[in-house]
Amino acid sequence: MAEKNKTYYITTPIYYPSGNMHIGHSYTTVAADAEARYRRLKGYDVMFLTGTDEHGQKIQRKAAEKGVTPKEYVDEIVANTKELWKLMNVTNDRFIRTTDDFHVAAVQKIFKRLYDQGDIYKSEYEGWYCTPCESFWTETQLVDGKCPDCGRPVERTREESYFFRLSKYQQRIIDYIESHPDFIQPVSRKNEMLNNFLRPGLEDLCVSRTSFDWGIPVTFDQKHVVYVWVDALSNYITALGYASDDDSAFKKYWPAQVHLVGKEIVRFHTIIWPALLMALDLPLPEQVYGHGWLLIDGGKMSKSKGNVVDPRILCAKYGCDAIRYFLLREVPFGADGVFTNEALIGRINADLANDLGNLVSRSVSMQLKYFGGVQPADKTFAAPDEEIRGLFAEIYANVQTQMDALQFPSALTEIWRGVSRLNKFIDETAPWVLAKTADTSDADRARLAGVMYTLLEGIRIISILIEPFMPETPAKIRAQLGIAGRHELTAWESAAQWGVYPDGTAVQKGEALFPRIDAKKELEELERIHQEAKAAATQTGAPAKEAGGSAAPAAGEDNANLITIDDFAKVQMKVAEVIAAEKVPDSDKLLKLRLNVGAETRQVVSGIAKQYSPEEMVGKKVILITNLQPAVLRGVESQGMILAATKGKKLVLVTVDGDIPAGAAIS
Ligand code: MSP
Repeated sequence: MAEKNKTYYITTPIYYPSGNMHIGHSYTTVAADAEARYRRLKGYDVMFLTGTDEHGQKIQRKAAEKGVTPKEYVDEIVANTKELWKLMNVTNDRFIRTTDDFHVAAVQKIFKRLYDQGDIYKSEYEGWYCTPCESFWTETQLVDGKCPDCGRPVERTREESYFFRLSKYQQRIIDYIESHPDFIQPVSRKNEMLNNFLRPGLEDLCVSRTSFDWGIPVTFDQKHVVYVWVDALSNYITALGYASDDDSAFKKYWPAQVHLVGKEIVRFHTIIWPALLMALDLPLPEQVYGHGWLLIDGGKMSKSKGNVVDPRILCAKYGCDAIRYFLLREVPFGADGVFTNEALIGRINADLANDLGNLVSRSVSMQLKYFGGVQPADKTFAAPDEEIRGLFAEIYANVQTQMDALQFPSALTEIWRGVSRLNKFIDETAPWVLAKTADTSDADRARLAGVMYTLLEGIRIISILIEPFMPETPAKIRAQLGIAGRHELTAWESAAQWGVYPDGTAVQKGEALFPRIDAKKELEELERIHQEAKAAATQTGAPAKEAGGSAAPAAGEDNANLITIDDFAKVQMKVAEVIAAEKVPDSDKLLKLRLNVGAETRQVVSGIAKQYSPEEMVGKKVILITNLQPAVLRGVESQGMILAATKGKKLVLVTVDGDIPAGAAIS
C-alpha cells in the first residue's frame, strides 16, 4: 500500500476546561477519531492530538470562586474530559495540556524568539476596563456601554501589552491561501476569510496581559503573561516536542495534514496560526477544516443556556457506537445541523436496529436454520449476487474517497447503500422459499448456500467499513459471523476482496446489535432530563459566557451558512395581538401568552417574564412564528414563538411599526 508508514497528523482544537463537556464538543473529537482510525486501518503512521486550553482570566476567577488554585480547578475538569474521550472510544495518541511544563517552556522560547527578531513589540492596549471584574472589553462586547459580565460602568483604559506583527504577514497569507486551494475547507470558509478579514486588512495582535497572572509568564518581562492565541495555537507543535530537547516527533509529523476545528475558530487557525508559523520559519499545515455547529433549541449548545446534551447520558443509554454514528451521519460535515432527540432515536431505530441489526440477525438465524450455521462449499451464484459484488467494490472505493475528503456522512451513506441492498436481496431471493425445496433439490440447496454466502460476505465487508465510526460493533458482528480475530478477513484491504469468507465457517447467534428503542417513552425521558438541566442553569444563573480568555477576539459574523430565499420562505410569521398573559408557575422567566392571530388564537410560552410584566403585555402586537413545532415548557404547551432582540441580559420584543390587524402575514 502506498499509504504504509506515511505519516498523518490530525488535531482537534484544545478545549477550554468546562465542567460540562457537551455533545457539541464531542463532535469535533469523534470526527477526528473516525479519520484517525480510518488512516490507521489504511496503514498510515497516525498522530492524533487533542487536549485542553487551560489559561486565562475566566479560569482564574472561577477557581477563586471555588476557593481552589487555578491548577486544582483545571485538574479536576481535565480528568473528566479524558474520561469522556475514553468512554467514547477516542484514540488520541497524545493529550496536551497548556499547563504541561514542556508546553510552557516551549511557548516561552517561541515568544522570546519572536520578540528578539522584532515580530513581537511592546506597546499599549486600549480598551474598556471593568475594575471589579478586572476585565478588558472591546467596544462591541459592551452591553449598553456597560460591562457585559456584571453590568457596571467601564472606563477607557490603556494597558501595556506586547503585540505580534500580524499585519506584516497579511499579503503572504493571502498569497498562500490563493495558491493552496485546499488549505481552507469547506471553500465557503476560505472566501469568508479572504473577503471579511484578510483583504480589508489585519491589525497587529495583542499577545500579552498584565491584568491577570494565570498564564505563561513572559520570561523577559515578568509582569506579563502570554495571552490566548500564541499559547493555544502553539500546542500543535509543542505537543510534538518543538523547541524541546527531543523534537523527533516534530520532525516526523509536522506539518499537520489537518487541523479539524469548529467554524468560529477557523479565523484564528487560518490567519494568526499561519502568521506565527511564517514568523517561526515553519511550514504551514496542509489543511484547516472548519465544521459547522450542532444546534439545539435554535442556537449553539452552551452550558450557560443549560441547553447542553450530555454525551455521557446518551452513551450510557444507547451505547457509544450509536452516538458516534448519529453525530457523523446526521449533519453534512461542514454545515450546521440541529440536534434533536427525535432524530437521534429515529436514526438508531431505522439505520441501526432495523437496517444493520436486523440484517445481521436475520442472516445468522437463516444460516443456522438452513445449514446448522456452517457455510456449505457447494453453492451457486446468480445475477443479483454479481451485481452486489460490483456494488461492494464501488462502495469500498467511494467510502475511501469520502473519508479522504473528511466527508463522514457521505461515507456512511455509501456503507448503508450496501446494508439496504443486502436487505432488499433477502426479500428478492426469499431464502425461506428456497429452503422448502433445498432437501429435495440440489440446485435449490446450492442456490440457497449461494444466497447465504453473498449475505455473509457482504456483512463481513460492512463490518470493516464501519470500523472507523463504530469501534465496538465490528467485533460483535465478526463473532456472529465466526471470523473473530481472523486478520486476513477483517483488515481494511480485505474489504476490497469479494469471496474470501471461508466455506465451512460456522456462525453463532449473538445479542441484538442495537435493541429497538421505545421512542415515545425515551423521548419523554430525554425531554425531562433536558428540562431539568435547563432549569438548573437558570436557577444557578450561570454566566453568559463559556470559560476562556477574557477578551478573546470575537469570531467574525459567519456567512458560511447562507440560506436561500426558499429556506426563508419556510418560516411562516404573522402579526399577533396579546389578549391575555400570565406567569408560568415556578418559573421567573416564562410568561404564558394567549395570542389573537386573526382567524385563530394561539398559546405561546415566552422567556420574557424578567423584562415584561403580564399586564404590560396585553394589547401588544408582536411577531409570531406560526409554523414552529409545538414544544412543552415547564409543562405548558407553546404553539409557536414570538420574536425578541437580545444583547447580554437586555431583551426587547420585536413589534410592528404602524397599524395592521392581527393575522397579517410577515414577508
Ligand atoms: N480553546 C479554544 C480552541 C483553541 S485551539 C488552538 C476553543 N475551545 S472550546 O472548548 O470552546 O471549543 C472546542 C471545539 O468545540 C471548537 O472546535 C468548537 O467549535 C467545538 N464546539 C463547541 N460547541 C460546539 C457545537 N455545539 N457544535 C459543534 N462544535 C462545537 O475554542
